[in-house]
Amino acid sequence: MSIAILGIESSCDDTSAAVVVDGMLKSNVIASQSVHEEYGGVVPELASRAHQQNIVPVVDTALKRAGMKPEDLSAIAFTRGPGLSGSLLVGTSFAKGMSLGLRVPIIDVNHLHGHLLAHFIRREATDEVPEFPFLCLLVSGGNTQLVLARSYKDMEILGRTIDDAAGEAIDKCAKVMGLPYPGGPHIDRLAAQGDPKKFKFAKPRIPDLDYSFSGLKTSFLYTLRDNVAENPDFIKENMADLAASFQHTVVEVLLNKLDKAVKLTGVKTVAIGGGVSANSEFRQAVADYCSRRHLKAFIPERMFTTDNAAMVATAGYFKYLDKDFCKYSEVPFTRVMV
Ligand code: KG4
Repeated sequence: MSIAILGIESSCDDTSAAVVVDGMLKSNVIASQSVHEEYGGVVPELASRAHQQNIVPVVDTALKRAGMKPEDLSAIAFTRGPGLSGSLLVGTSFAKGMSLGLRVPIIDVNHLHGHLLAHFIRREATDEVPEFPFLCLLVSGGNTQLVLARSYKDMEILGRTIDDAAGEAIDKCAKVMGLPYPGGPHIDRLAAQGDPKKFKFAKPRIPDLDYSFSGLKTSFLYTLRDNVAENPDFIKENMADLAASFQHTVVEVLLNKLDKAVKLTGVKTVAIGGGVSANSEFRQAVADYCSRRHLKAFIPERMFTTDNAAMVATAGYFKYLDKDFCKYSEVPFTRVMV
């Protein structure tokens, strides 16, 4: 009998549902919330309300696209955290309710494990997946982590940001340039036409494998402040060069610690994940770095870089094989749990 897992993701501002059957992705539906755009960031209360509106049609569509009925499901996997409390509550409660109705188990998934296991999303049995152990650099709006994955469940965080996440710093800098939220894709687009060497920003000097982005962010803000004082049109006139130079510095910082971690662990495979791994320069830099050092690179399809339920259903599938189910008494967690 086949194993069919419904995955539900609702940790931030994307409501997503996906179906994985015997480890193969059958459907992945994402409803992104545009309600936050005018506020320049995600408004938690609006996010949870939008999840409530979206979740039934999103799950329904995911099941239909997979050609399945609810009764065909073996288990329901859901993102338990980290994320926004109200948002997580919607997905968690929905998963619990549906599982009770269907009498199938629930499986809790750590969102960050999900991003890492996104590399195991397969549509065909021939799709290539990483071999353990591998290093994964997870870079999103809320987290920046270097993770050593030894198995589906044995993951060690070797380094993390001590202040801002990379995506958070990108979004904040984009905001002061007058770009819409989230700024990452706009920086990416503008950077393609700019000179990455035009401006220099301070790079962090943090020991070991930890990251820091708040100093770089401040250095960027000071550059803008000082230059705008002399020329009010400075930002407008230097938009592309500012984006390119800033993005280039972020990518250099990310790659620097990745290189350290590769040398320290001796891994032969490197992966990236999270929203910022959609960035063109970052993707290219990782691919080039890996090819120079004869490492295997896993760079996710862009649709699997941001929040999606395909990764939740895939992570859920592996937990199902281990019969690693979740109790109904478990509640969402909002912060990173190691
Ligand atoms: O993983 P994710 O969807 O969720 C959060 O942790 O919030 O990541 C969102 C982050 C945002 O900071 C966004 O600006 C960034 O990913 N992002 C990008 C790009 N696409 C999304 N950053 C740089 N370049 C991109 N193309």
